[in-house]
Amino acid sequence: MSLAGKVALVTGASRGIGAAVARALAGRGAAVAVNYFGSEAAALAVVTEIQAAGGRAMAVKADARDRGQVEAMAAAVKAELGPIGLLVLNASISFPMQGFLDYPWEAFEAKLLGELGAAFHGCRAVVPQMLEQKKGAIVAITSGLARNPGWGFCAHSSAKAGLEGFVRALAFELGPMGIRVNAVAPGLTLTDATANLPDRNKQAAAEHTPLRRNGQAEDIAEAVVGILQAGFVNGATLPVNGGGYTF
Ligand SMILES: NC(=O)c1ccc[n+]([C@@H]2O[C@H](COP(=O)([O-])OP(=O)(O)OC[C@H]3O[C@@H](n4cnc5c(N)ncnc54)[C@H](OP(=O)(O)O)[C@@H]3O)[C@@H](O)[C@H]2O)c1
Repeated sequence: MSLAGKVALVTGASRGIGAAVARALAGRGAAVAVNYFGSEAAALAVVTEIQAAGGRAMAVKADARDRGQVEAMAAAVKAELGPIGLLVLNASISFPMQGFLDYPWEAFEAKLLGELGAAFHGCRAVVPQMLEQKKGAIVAITSGLARNPGWGFCAHSSAKAGLEGFVRALAFELGPMGIRVNAVAPGLTLTDATANLPDRNKQAAAEHTPLRRNGQAEDIAEAVVGILQAGFVNGATLPVNGGGYTF
């Protein structure tokens, strides 16, 4: 299916899963806003790549956690590319990996507020543009860790589980207005975020995955593009993990 004529905003699209999603959406013909926070050069490289392939794209800097910056970003995208019809909430909100008994409350709180704030502000800034078009599709990138625990991930698991709840709540409220909201939950995916994970851990994860490999950013992007286009899927969480565990 072609996405020609659609405008997409992907948060945290300078690297990793977000960059792969931006490329995949552009490959289907969508005009893509590549949001970045610190990696301007990487975001511009994604934009240049899309434009070189004949697509439309812009880079836009904003801290996804900051309401004012997100509102300004949504307005800038509308002015340059047109009203946003596709939103991918992907920005990776960092957190320390630590056991619960040592977890600093401030870090836990920052992760929860950052993850949910980025989703809240992103949707509040973009949904009015979708309402003008009487349609839209939103995908939030959650994580298999929302439902399957791992040591050191109490803040991440809690934040991503909250994000899943937010997705279902918005799917319920916005569905009657023609806007679908879904989640894509990756398993272990090879990006900068997992670059420091020891090879033996990646290998072990691959061995426990029926498809016998780790995920790549492009695997997640393929699923995001699919669910953005699947017109009767709403309020769902799609695990993209090679069948590594039940969901
Ligand atoms: N990799 C995995 O195994 C895995 C598994 C499950 C879920 N996920 C989820 O997938 C998403 C993408 O992760 P990834 O692995 O692709 O991460 P990544 O390769 O580390 O890339 C992180 C991206 O998020 C952006 N970002 C970070 N803080 C931001 C902020 N405050 N505002 C806007 N953008 C911000 C970064 O932008 P700059 O570089 O410009 O700062 C970068 O583009 C995250 O939501 C993550 O939780 C990942």
